[in-house]
Amino acid sequence: MRVAARRCRIRPMREDDIPQVLEIERQSFPRIWPQTLYQRELKNKMARYLVAYEPLDEDACAEKTAGEAWLRRGVGGLLRRFFGSPPQPPHERILGLVGLWYAIGEAHIVTIAVRQEHRRQGIGELLLVLALEAALEAGQNEVTLEYRISSHAARSLYEKYGFRRVGVRPRYYSDNQEDAVLMTTPPLRSPEFRQLLAQRIADQRARWGDDYPLAGREAPLAEATPPG
Ligand SMILES: CC(C)(COP(=O)(O)OP(=O)(O)OC[C@H]1O[C@@H](n2cnc3c(N)ncnc32)[C@H](O)[C@@H]1OP(=O)(O)O)[C@@H](O)C(=O)NCCC(=O)NCCS
Repeated sequence: MRVAARRCRIRPMREDDIPQVLEIERQSFPRIWPQTLYQRELKNKMARYLVAYEPLDEDACAEKTAGEAWLRRGVGGLLRRFFGSPPQPPHERILGLVGLWYAIGEAHIVTIAVRQEHRRQGIGELLLVLALEAALEAGQNEVTLEYRISSHAARSLYEKYGFRRVGVRPRYYSDNQEDAVLMTTPPLRSPEFRQLLAQRIADQRARWGDDYPLAGREAPLAEATPPG
């Protein structure tokens, strides 16, 4: 079942997002990274992880705060002294994530996934634009990635943003021996790529209207003429 996100926002991924990120990965990939690897990755200076999220209902948060106050005062306070704090429900629902590694002059998208019930709402595109923005900010010349040859959604998404197929790694995925397709962008600062990005961002803006989560950030990205 599809559920429309009421509000979608973006920010760097934090350690307390990991449980929700793993939920999304479980829905998306046959094999997922262990929690400890994500913990390490979030400290990796050559990596960048971003999430799309929906802030949860303020009423739910208010109820939670009232509940916590009661707990602090009551028997719960005593129990907490001995057993520690119970896990807190999250204030935000993570809708998707994207992860990038930086190499010399080249960024590599290591993961991109959207919560199943929020797919086909434009969130994957937002995350991809964020990854391109992060790569540009980090002075990278191009962005590469690989995807499972059977993933038509991924291929269509990447082609929409100018990625071109540059090779195949036969039987790259050990779980089912599937081939990986390698793709790369044109040079990020080329007029060709800038124009494509400007067009895609304008389309995204039209789709999201006043709720566009990248509002205010898209201007430098969408710049049609490269500097100099
Ligand atoms: C790939 C994925 C991230 C796309 O996220 P999404 O939020 O559903 O994508 P969007 O709604 O932003 O769609 C953007 C474009 O992607 C393509 N696309 C997305 N889902 C598609 C599908 N089911 N079939 C065909 N094309 C699809 C289309 O080109 C679409 O553009 P359009 O709306 O103009 O047709 C999502 O399907 C997913 O998480 N898949 C599992 C994980 C995965 O395969 N990751 C990529 C490989 S590492």
